[in-house]
Amino acid sequence: MSLPDLTVRPRRLRRNPAIRRMVRETSLSAADLIYPVFVDETISEAVPVASMPGVSRIPLSDVASVTQQAMELGIPGLILFGIPAHKDATGSAGWDDQGIVQQAIRAAKQACPEAYIIADTCFCEYTDHGHCGVLDGEHVHNDATLQNLQREAVSYARAGVDMVAPSGMMDGMIGAIRSGLDDAGFTELPIMSYAVKYASAYFGPFRDAADSTPTFGDRASYQMDPANRREALKEAQLDVAEGADILMVKPALAYMDIIREVKDATDLPMAVYNVSGEYAMIKAAAEKGWIDERRVVMETMMSFKRAGADLILTYHAMDIARWLQD
Ligand code: PBG
Ligand code: ZN
Repeated sequence: MSLPDLTVRPRRLRRNPAIRRMVRETSLSAADLIYPVFVDETISEAVPVASMPGVSRIPLSDVASVTQQAMELGIPGLILFGIPAHKDATGSAGWDDQGIVQQAIRAAKQACPEAYIIADTCFCEYTDHGHCGVLDGEHVHNDATLQNLQREAVSYARAGVDMVAPSGMMDGMIGAIRSGLDDAGFTELPIMSYAVKYASAYFGPFRDAADSTPTFGDRASYQMDPANRREALKEAQLDVAEGADILMVKPALAYMDIIREVKDATDLPMAVYNVSGEYAMIKAAAEKGWIDERRVVMETMMSFKRAGADLILTYHAMDIARWLQD
């Protein structure tokens, strides 16, 4: 039997764990992770989120210990979401200096000054209709929402936040927040833009967790159509021009092509949001014994890094950090 020419044999570099480690192209560390936290003004004890096993809404009194836990595991940062006691048509609890996120920022920074605290900056958790801004009829009014985003970002800044992360997909939101922060003296405070955010069914469990399901309609008039690729580059480039410091693509798993393209087209650090529905799918299959949770999670994270992510927002962060320590 004749064999083909096998001068080149890729298997030589896969022969044992040592050489595989030496030629590994991508790495994952706890420093890549950002842990999302839901702080609920209306509770005094943690309440598990049914569709996200392992995730709970926490009361303000638990913010310090959760922050400490993340720090001990080497996770540098948290992103905070607030569930306020009172909602209204504009979402004014979002820019209340005594609001739940503002209090959580202060609690986290007091417990761990070195913790990097990011605040999701939007209105869907604060409005009684669940949309990401002020309504004009059934439509979200872009420019009126921009003014409120400035107020909200400045209020988070006054509370001591390290970075704001606008997630509402309003046109001009980065420029508006940048000038709002600068005018208030917060020129050094960075913005992580949810620059490329799709109108995704993968957000389902989050809306239970954050109590932010729209009472009518959907978010398709502000979030992007999952069919669009070139538009992702346009959104990313706009946010670069408006002064974003970090760009995010969201969701992550079904948008790996977009992560790579945005990474190649821009120079900013790239974050990806491994969203609630992606988390829930892995948890559900693992509970049934159908997949090996740890291996699937680690493979998924490594794939985000390989696709171009520098930072990963993930509900698995605490587990990953523990596994990385083993
Ligand atoms: C709020 C916001 C959402 C998520 C992050 N910020 C939900 C949405 O747009 O409906 C989703 C996060 C997740 O699914 O884990 N604008
Ligand atoms: Zn929103």
